[in-house]
Amino acid sequence: MITIVLKHETDFDGWRQAARTLALGGVKPIDVTWSVEGDEEQLFATTGMAPQPRSSTETFNVPAKFVELASIAIFHRDRERFAVLYRLLWQLRSHHDLLEVATDPDVSRVLAMAKAVRRDEHKMHAFVRFREIGRERDARYVAWFEPEHHIVELAAPFFARRFADMPWSILTPDLCAHWDGVAISFSPGVNKAEAPTSDRLEETWRRYYAAIFNPARLKVKAMSAEMPRKYWRNLPEASMIKPLIAGAARATNAMIAEAATEPAKAQKRLEEPMRGKTKTIAATDELETLREEAAACRACPLWKDATQTVFGEGPPHAPIMLVGEQPGDKEDLAGKPFVGPAGQMLDRALEDAGIDRGKVYVTNAVKHFKFVPRGKIRLHQKPSTSEIKACRQWYEREQAAIKPVLVVAMGATAAQSVLGKITPINKNRGHLIDLDDETKALVTVHPSYLLRLPDAEAKAREYQHFVSDLRIAAAELRQAADVA
Ligand code: URA
Ligand code: SF4
Repeated sequence: MITIVLKHETDFDGWRQAARTLALGGVKPIDVTWSVEGDEEQLFATTGMAPQPRSSTETFNVPAKFVELASIAIFHRDRERFAVLYRLLWQLRSHHDLLEVATDPDVSRVLAMAKAVRRDEHKMHAFVRFREIGRERDARYVAWFEPEHHIVELAAPFFARRFADMPWSILTPDLCAHWDGVAISFSPGVNKAEAPTSDRLEETWRRYYAAIFNPARLKVKAMSAEMPRKYWRNLPEASMIKPLIAGAARATNAMIAEAATEPAKAQKRLEEPMRGKTKTIAATDELETLREEAAACRACPLWKDATQTVFGEGPPHAPIMLVGEQPGDKEDLAGKPFVGPAGQMLDRALEDAGIDRGKVYVTNAVKHFKFVPRGKIRLHQKPSTSEIKACRQWYEREQAAIKPVLVVAMGATAAQSVLGKITPINKNRGHLIDLDDETKALVTVHPSYLLRLPDAEAKAREYQHFVSDLRIAAAELRQAADVA
């Protein structure tokens, strides 16, 4: 029996390296146990060395899709995940298409794990609530959250983008995430027994802060040494500790003074620094809540075979919303719209039209991938009118939250959803159509249509036509920027 001890709960690189070495060494899944440094079970384990691959050039390939899936499933709390993933990897070497076999117990277990992780990530995005602790220059926004899975590292970048200009900390029992305006860092979790109610958050933070960022212990080296090894990788000393050190004494004193003398006022001040951001936060919150709700949507049968709901993405107040048909194979796995071949075509056309994709909100009329399995591949199928109608609620609610000046409907399905009726593309493309007082629509072809055209000349011509439609959107975008 070989025991592999990973450095920490989400040590994907460690798992990957060990799994590769084991597989190359011909070690059967049944002969391996997996654990994590610091695990109780590990104390009793006899550690064996993983065998060396027979030759350093020896290798094998697994589908990229597996690597992607495993890198998400690893955040699941299931203690058997490392073993299940290795079992799947083992089987994939001789059965390359196994991931298409949704009835295989390991495949379905890993898919379910990845799905649960994504759902938990969205939940964290939607439900973390910060409270201001400390004052003014020393203010810090602190939240307590208990994720179901080990998702703190996965979920943290979202908060860094969304609350880029406020220093925050999210305390969880697994791992705490911190943002100083420049970089995210992680430190050990807060003991679950200390789980604070919102009234006690400040007190918990103070205790935590005192333990972790104790000004008396402000020697970076000493501090690192006291942290479990498994967190070091995320502890670029400069980013984690410097700003905290700089403000440590001041902040501690300010917090203590404030807690002792002005509890009521401190509460009132909570709102202040957020005031200017209320609008953005409202739309962001609304979109995140929608995303969360849509993740559990069962309004039509399409959720059953798909990996996950693929919700829209982009700035919450984007002046332009691009609507496609439905996620494809790549989007279904990635959980993001337009990341596959149609997405590349779209990116190129947007660039040629002078539109920065980062400034537009991109979504689909139907949020689940509809397909039929055909051997290796999952063949795209057009959504039916009843599916388009069932899913329209999400598009409508996204539109209501974002309030774009222009919605670009790409292809017939999008046009049907955006305009609320079947609308022929060629007759209606290329000019602005009033949707309501504030929003216009623009109909054009779907980028996949360009991919399907057989001859190069037609492709080039149709591509130019698509770009010229998008230039109308570019003009709207410039106008919106001038007004803002
Ligand atoms: N096609 C679409 O309509 N949407 C996507 O997200 C990808 C391909
Ligand atoms: Fe819901 Fe749309 Fe998915 Fe159907 S396709 S289950 S309506 S999110």
